[in-house]
Amino acid sequence: MEIQRIDRTVSQERERWHREALGSLSGRVLDIGAGSGISAAFLPGDAVWIALEPAPSRRLKRAVAGRPGSRLLAASAEQIPLEDASVDAVVCSMVLCSVDDPQRVLAQVRRVVRPRGRIVFLEHVGAPPGSGARRIQGLIAPATRRFNSGCDPRRETASTLRSAGFSALELRTLRTAGLLGGLAPVIEGRAVV
Ligand SMILES: C[S@@+](CC[C@H](N)C(=O)[O-])C[C@H]1O[C@@H](n2cnc3c(N)ncnc32)[C@H](O)[C@@H]1O
Repeated sequence: MEIQRIDRTVSQERERWHREALGSLSGRVLDIGAGSGISAAFLPGDAVWIALEPAPSRRLKRAVAGRPGSRLLAASAEQIPLEDASVDAVVCSMVLCSVDDPQRVLAQVRRVVRPRGRIVFLEHVGAPPGSGARRIQGLIAPATRRFNSGCDPRRETASTLRSAGFSALELRTLRTAGLLGGLAPVIEGRAVV
């Protein structure tokens, strides 16, 4: 795993990614595991935001209500209640660590995105096997799985993305600054369906 070091903290990197990756999307954009709805502020005004979240919070409902034309899907990404080829892009932000079945989610993503549509992703991933960080991830995993939306910090999401059958996959692995950067590498990139 080639890891590029960057000076930004994970939250600074997250903000940069949201600005750049989401700002370039258009049409119908499915946001899987939308959380509190952070994506809404970064999508172009004319993009249609479709927020998918299994248990939508009041905050997410308010964010959807505050963006005319947007839509809330109270569902899990393993079974996306949308027609085949019905969206232009998918946003995957810090969610493949939390879903039950990442392979199945990516198969669903391929199904609902139109041909030549795009997926953009930012995910934290497992530290290199055998490293101290990986051992710590193993120690904290039972707690994060239980108390942090099912998050498993050890997921090998880069491999899952590589074997999902996308074309033009661009992916880089980053070590962000600060304590969290040392504990969890981040992958970011895009792919075409
Ligand atoms: C760490 S949060 C990320 C939220 C948001 N994407 C962001 O970047 O701030 C992970 C989200 O994934 C959601 N989630 C967990 N399992 C899911 C599933 N099977 N399908 C869709 N979303 C899921 C959680 O409810 C939570 O809102």
